[in-house]
Amino acid sequence: MPLQHPGTETHRLHRMNFITPLLRWRALGALVILTATCMAGCGGGSPASTTVDSNLIQPLGLSAERVAVGDRLFNEVALSAGGSQSCASCHVKSRGHADAAGVFLPLGGPALDRQGLRSSPSLHYMNDNAAFVLNAGPGPRGGFTWDGRADDRAAQALGPLLAANEMAQPDEAAVVRAVRSLPYYSELAVAYSLPADASDAQVLQATQLALQAYQAGDVDYQPYTSKFDAVQTGQASFTAQEQRGLALFNDPQRGNCASCHSSTPPPGEALPLFTNFGYFALGVPRNVSTATADPAFFDMGLCGPMRTDLSHRTDLCGMFKVPTLRNVALTAPYFHNGVMATLEEAVAFYATRDSDPARWYPTVGGVVQRFNDLPPAYRGNVTQQAPFGPATPGGPRLSPQDVQDIVSFLGTLTDGFTP
Ligand code: HEC
Ligand code: HEC
Repeated sequence: MPLQHPGTETHRLHRMNFITPLLRWRALGALVILTATCMAGCGGGSPASTTVDSNLIQPLGLSAERVAVGDRLFNEVALSAGGSQSCASCHVKSRGHADAAGVFLPLGGPALDRQGLRSSPSLHYMNDNAAFVLNAGPGPRGGFTWDGRADDRAAQALGPLLAANEMAQPDEAAVVRAVRSLPYYSELAVAYSLPADASDAQVLQATQLALQAYQAGDVDYQPYTSKFDAVQTGQASFTAQEQRGLALFNDPQRGNCASCHSSTPPPGEALPLFTNFGYFALGVPRNVSTATADPAFFDMGLCGPMRTDLSHRTDLCGMFKVPTLRNVALTAPYFHNGVMATLEEAVAFYATRDSDPARWYPTVGGVVQRFNDLPPAYRGNVTQQAPFGPATPGGPRLSPQDVQDIVSFLGTLTDGFTP
């Protein structure tokens, strides 16, 4: 494989020492570190090095140079209008590339004082996600963002660069000006063979592709180093509580979590991703800290208003993408609107949404406002699939102890476990 980058690559063989036969097919190539030279303006969190998963280079049409310059762009505050926000501000490496610690919903805009509508999802384990399809047999599938409106990560990257409450550039020309002024613009030009007189459209496209290449090819994004993975390869074993949690997670009559957060690998992968990239309306409670701005506003996911092409499909209102649960212990707050601060709460919501709705929704005039983050006309779209739905005789499908056990199991999905 053409992975030569003169003088800078190091083979990280130690990473392969614990890769067992099940995983070996993923590790046929070596991992390569590119050390990005710090030129003139090495501020703003420029990364020191980029580790490329070389298995991904060929199938995804990447190159090590593209991944490395994408890493720099991802961490580049000069790409924002206010000069102080990068992609990494909201997608924090130590948190599965999801929300920054203590952030309820992300702040952005030139002065970093405009609140976002949705929680920043983890960017990990997305290489098997494809463009959005409306009728994929079992229902809508795929796409990027909570409502799938971007077909790939290159298209998605333009969203935050131009969003008024994110990096807030006024237009594409302003993004291109910022990119051309970077001290390492030449790295982008070389990686994407841009001519000296590259057009704005070419520079913009190269920027988007580099950001995509980084997320697709950097080893941080799909490391498969959780305790769960170690157990699959015989390097570790679950505690009794984690084992109980996994059984509940998989049991169709109990947690039934795996029916949406798949615990079996997709075609072509050795290990599961804990999402099927499908869409469901869970009826999560309204996040009043954002809703107070406009009580008439509803974020309804697939049917809009952020996404505009399915506004006539009222049967899809309230549906959001099933997120991966890998690294979920690191990615609080939870659900698209960030309404749950802890993982315990998020799992307890599944257990008692229907048996104890007053715990989750406000009561007005003696009536519990179930599914209050959707207009009443669309509340019928909310799923009744287990673990929701009619309580089994004797109460909810999951007891408080079951919730604790599932949370304990979810903790095994955090990468960076050392057997
Ligand atoms: C102000 C915070 C913020 C910044 C800055 C930001 N993001 Fe995001 N990111 C979000 C939020 C919030 C979402 C969910 C958006 C939605 O559903 O509409 C998201 C979604 C995504 C997704 C889709 C993930 C999925 O699950 O489908 C990708 C990919 C992504 N961002 C990459 C980037 C890149 C690349 C940049 C820099 C160009 C960036 N983000 C900058 C907050 C941010
Ligand atoms: C019917 C499909 C379905 C089932 C069953 C299901 N989930 Fe989910 N899950 C989703 C969807 C869709 C979302 C995003 C919903 C939203 O934000 O509005 C989600 C979100 C989550 C989140 C928040 C993740 C984040 O990054 O914000 C957690 C945690 C979670 N699920 C855990 C579980 C557990 C544990 C179970 C089993 C008890 C389970 N889920 C069962 C579809 C499902």
